[in-house]
Amino acid sequence: MYENFTELRKDCFACQKCPLSETRTNLVFGVGNETADILFVGEGPGENEDLQGEPFVGKAGKLLDKYLEVIDLDRNKNVYIANIVKCRPPQNRDPLEDEQEACINWLREQTKLIKPKIIVCLGRIAAQRLISPDFKVTRQHGQFIKKGNILFMGTFHPAALLRNEAQKADALADFQNLREKIKELEIKL
Ligand code: URA
Repeated sequence: MYENFTELRKDCFACQKCPLSETRTNLVFGVGNETADILFVGEGPGENEDLQGEPFVGKAGKLLDKYLEVIDLDRNKNVYIANIVKCRPPQNRDPLEDEQEACINWLREQTKLIKPKIIVCLGRIAAQRLISPDFKVTRQHGQFIKKGNILFMGTFHPAALLRNEAQKADALADFQNLREKIKELEIKL
């Protein structure tokens, strides 16, 4: 259990718990407001993220920023963004079960410090890890599920939206649902 982000970040940056640590350029810890009420979780860094050390900075990240903006959210102001694994899997393959298992504790510790009211899972990997192992994004996207004190919602991964434009309207509806939930819970942005 960590008391603050400085200590957590220091230990995380030294992590060598799985082989992804050997091929990383930068560890991608997370970005945003460390006291945000809303936490977004993706699967793992891609090439741009590995090079820059920040989550969602490539094309998919630009799209995520647009969706955030539509509902008054901003990575520099009122949300935190992290990933299931902190180091880039080679050729952007899905992170392996062992890699996720080795890394998930860093996200748990981040979550304990941030204390979000809502966690939005971006894509299947995050939703299956954090909501339920059989989560189907196409069927269950946009639904809020309470676990402990936190409301979880899974939606499309922005990279999937770049490949499949037809899902963009559903994704936007999920973000608008999220906006409603933020109002309902009287979360100050
Ligand atoms: N895809 C993710 O899941 N996370 C990132 O940080 C970038 C792309």
